Amino acid sequence: MALRSSNKKIERDGSTVSLWQAVTKESSKKVLPDTDAIYDVAIVGAGITGITLALLLQKAGLQCLLLEGHKIGFGTTSGTSAHLNTFFDATYPEIESDFGAEAAKLVAKAGKEAMAMIKEFVAMYQIDCDWETKNGFLFSQTDEETEQLAKILQASQNAGVAVTEAETNGLPIEFQHALLFKGQAQFHPVKYILELAREFREQGGKIIENTFVCDAELKDDIYSINAGKNIVRSRKLVCATHIPPGVNLLSFRCAPYRSYVLGIKLAKGAIYPDCLSYDMQEPYHYFRTHVIDGEKYLILGGEDHKTGHGDPEMAFGNLEKYAKANFKVSTIPYRWSAQYYVPVDGLPYIGKMPFGDEQTFIATGFNGNGMIFGTLSAKIIADLILGKENEYATLFDPARIKPIAGFSEFVKENADVAYHFFADRLSADRIATLKELKPGEGRIVELEGKKLAIHRSVKDEITTLNPVCTHAGCIVNFNAVEQSWDCPCHGGRFDLKGKVISGPPQKDLDSLKLS
Ligand code: FES
Repeated sequence: MALRSSNKKIERDGSTVSLWQAVTKESSKKVLPDTDAIYDVAIVGAGITGITLALLLQKAGLQCLLLEGHKIGFGTTSGTSAHLNTFFDATYPEIESDFGAEAAKLVAKAGKEAMAMIKEFVAMYQIDCDWETKNGFLFSQTDEETEQLAKILQASQNAGVAVTEAETNGLPIEFQHALLFKGQAQFHPVKYILELAREFREQGGKIIENTFVCDAELKDDIYSINAGKNIVRSRKLVCATHIPPGVNLLSFRCAPYRSYVLGIKLAKGAIYPDCLSYDMQEPYHYFRTHVIDGEKYLILGGEDHKTGHGDPEMAFGNLEKYAKANFKVSTIPYRWSAQYYVPVDGLPYIGKMPFGDEQTFIATGFNGNGMIFGTLSAKIIADLILGKENEYATLFDPARIKPIAGFSEFVKENADVAYHFFADRLSADRIATLKELKPGEGRIVELEGKKLAIHRSVKDEITTLNPVCTHAGCIVNFNAVEQSWDCPCHGGRFDLKGKVISGPPQKDLDSLKLS
C-alpha cells in the first residue's frame, strides 16, 4: 500500500523534525483495550521491535495487545537514519576477540536473516517504503584506521560476510582504503512500520496509543498492567521500549547516546551518493541519499555523544561545517537527533529479563543498528514465546556474563554514571535572577538551597520542575535542540512539562511553583 507524504507530521520524541515524520497516517478510531480479556502477550512500545513482534505473534495465532505511550513510531524508529547493514558498530574483529569466531559467524548470519525478514515483509505486504538494496562502503583516512580496516576485512570474511576491497568509497571525500559490503539496504522506516501496524490490526491485533504503562504486577501467572486509566491483563509481557523501564541490570549495562543527522539539499548539478558509506572517525560519520516526493536529500549523520552530556547545538554546528567542507551544500532543510543505547560488551540484549520472572522479555542495546537488531529481536522473542528453538537466543541472552568483553567499557560508563550520582548533588549553576534565562533556554539553578530545573519559553512563560530524575535520582540537563530535559545517567528524557518522553523513568518530574 502507498502512504502519501503529508504536511501534518507524525509525533516524535523531540522538537526537531526528521525526514520521516511527514507521512499521512491512516486515521484510526480511538481503540480501548478489552479489560475482561486475558491477552496472550502485551507488548509495550510501538517502534520497529514492538510492531514486528506483535505481527509475528498475531500471525502465529496468539492474541496480542500493543501499548504505546505516545503514537506509533514516536521513539527512535522515526529518528533513525534507516541504514540497513550486515556489519555493525561492534566490528567483527571485536566480536571475534570478545565472543569467539563462532559467535561472529552467528552475528553475521543473524544480521543477514533480519535483513531478509524486512525484505520479505516489504514484498509480502507490498509496502511502499522506498526499499532499495545498496552497496555499503567503510573507509579509512589515517594509517591507524587502515590497519584497523584490514582487520575488519579479515574478520568479516571469517564470519561469512560478503566483503571485498574497493576502489571507491562512493563519496567525494578523500580516503586511504575502502571496503565494499554488498547487499546493504535502506528504506523509509515510518512508512514501513505503519504498514506492519496496519497488517497487525488486520490480523486481529489491538494497538492502544497514548497510553503510558507505569507498572505491571504478576499474580498467578497473569500480569495486571496499569495502562493509563485501565488495567489490562496478559500472560506474557514484552518491553519493546528501547531500554526496559525501572532500575534494573540493563540500566547499568547500556549507555544512552544521541546521534545527529542532517537532511541536505546539494547545489544544482552536485552528485548525491548512490550507496551507504561510513568513515572510521571517532565518532564516525554516516552517509546516504533518500528521495522524498521527488526531492533528493543527502542524509549525513554523526557527532554522537552521551545523552545529557555534550552540547547539541555544537554537534549540529560541527556537522554542518563538516558537510560544507565535503559537499556542495545548497540548503539544510532537516536536522534532527535521536537516541540509541550502547551495550557494554558490544552486542544487544534480547530475551528474558535478567533476574525477572519467566514471562517478561526485553530487547535493548542495539547501538546504531536499531532497524536490524529491532527486527532480529522480534524474531528471537517470538520464538522464545512460541517455544521454538532459536539459534541466536543464547548469544544475545540479556543474562549473559562476559567478564572480559567490555569490562573496561563497563567500568568507564559506570564511573561516569557514578560521577553524576554524586556530582549532581554537589554542584548547580547559580543564577542571580531569572532574567538571565533567555527565551527557549532551560537551566538548573539553585534557589534558597534547592535545585530547580527552570525553562523560559519563547512566549516568556516560566516552567519550574524538580530536576531530580525519577529513575534513580540524577540531575537532568537541558537539551536546547530538542527542548527536553535529558538525564546524564541512563538517558531518561522528559518534556518541558516534566512528562516522561523516553528511557527508564516511569514517573514524570514534579512540577514546582515559584513564588
Ligand atoms: Fe537513570 Fe535518570 S535515567 S537516573
